[in-house]
Amino acid sequence: MDKFIIRGGKPLRGTIATGGSKNAALPILIASLLTDEPCVVRRVPRLRDIVTTLRLLEFLGKRVVQDNASVRIYSRKGLKTQAPYDLVKQMRASVLVVGPLLARFGGVRVPLPGGCAIGLRPIDLHLKGFEQMGAKVSLERGDAVMSARRLHAARIPLRFASVGATENLLMAASLLEGGTTIENAAREPEIADLAVFLRSMGAQIEGEGTRRICVRGRRVLRGAEHEVIADRIEAGTFLIACAATRGSVFLKGARPGHLRNVLKKLQEAGCKVQASSAGIGLSAAGRPDPVDITTQPYPGFPTDLQAPWMALMSLAKGQSMIRERIFEKRFLHAGELARLGARLSVDGDMVCTDGVGKFSGALVMASDIRAGAALLVAGLAAGGKTEISRVYHIDRGYEAVEKKLRRLGADIIRVKS
Ligand code: EPZ
Repeated sequence: MDKFIIRGGKPLRGTIATGGSKNAALPILIASLLTDEPCVVRRVPRLRDIVTTLRLLEFLGKRVVQDNASVRIYSRKGLKTQAPYDLVKQMRASVLVVGPLLARFGGVRVPLPGGCAIGLRPIDLHLKGFEQMGAKVSLERGDAVMSARRLHAARIPLRFASVGATENLLMAASLLEGGTTIENAAREPEIADLAVFLRSMGAQIEGEGTRRICVRGRRVLRGAEHEVIADRIEAGTFLIACAATRGSVFLKGARPGHLRNVLKKLQEAGCKVQASSAGIGLSAAGRPDPVDITTQPYPGFPTDLQAPWMALMSLAKGQSMIRERIFEKRFLHAGELARLGARLSVDGDMVCTDGVGKFSGALVMASDIRAGAALLVAGLAAGGKTEISRVYHIDRGYEAVEKKLRRLGADIIRVKS
């Protein structure tokens, strides 16, 4: 397993381009299951989770041709309707194949995605929504087995604004004639990007990005081409790393409108932020001011930036509170940050950070994508040498992260082991 060796304390300076969004690309690639016609998806980041998704599509019967950041997906033969255990276990987003396969073929079997480092992560909202569309759902030896003579349009109120459930149900509804309404829908930009792709396939969709999405689907959808939006979580992570190292960076192509809450918090912490249609600039001169956050569904502070934010606030001039309202166990990075010198106390869904003047390098281990990102932020700010192991977690969500950081002046190398 590879590791990163960082010699920290150097301010990040310079310009990099923001990559395509992992969490937009995953559902859009999976939406190609809705049609037999060719689809082309551009600006796809080169990440482990993307590789897993393309392998899943090939397993199900698609032919995939990847050319740098462009992916072409063709039909090869009839699609399978059972997702393989090993791929679903590797990546929870595999469960998004249910919507397209159930709507097209009236039946699908998928292993229940297990818990992971950030909590149980059930799919009850997905299953309840499909039942409301007329599916029969049973659990058989750890698999969810769904069948429906014909799914029908429905009004689906979501108990919680689940990103995955909204995406799964939106894809299924795109193949159903009649009007489906998803209420209390998630409003993330990645869902709006999926809606744009589904609309170009022929579905009529209104309200994406609001709490109420209305869909009028068609029994046959056409192939489509699409360029994925910029990755707001990658951009937010780099901005936070720049703040922690008191640097000055410009992220070309980052979308300020997708990070409003985060940019506000960075300004409250004392950073100078320049936002434009070309991208986002940030500069920081000293230790950040303490700023409390509570994670919320979009447009609130994103849970995926909670861990990097904790690393930054651990260097603040005072105490700050971090509340995690989306996942029940998303503080595994706290212990690793403490090894670098952070002073943190965890109490239920809250962490109190008592800011310190500086971190000292240490041996630390990544436990999930964003916890690993937090360790990158902290290691870049720490004096001395930091070694981060299990960086495969980071590779799931950040494309060539050490190359991008080196371009910004960081002293970071990947050691293959
Ligand atoms: C998506 O996960 C993202 N993943 C996550 O990013 C992100 O953290 C999350 O949305 C919240 O923004 C992708 O887009 C691939 P949810 P998802 O359904 O769809 C509970 C990253 O680092 N819940 O909104 O799984 C669930 O347990 C990843 O890139 C149910 O209880 O998120 C969790 O506590 C991590 N029942 C909360 O809702 C359900 O049926 C949020 O889940 C579904 C979810």
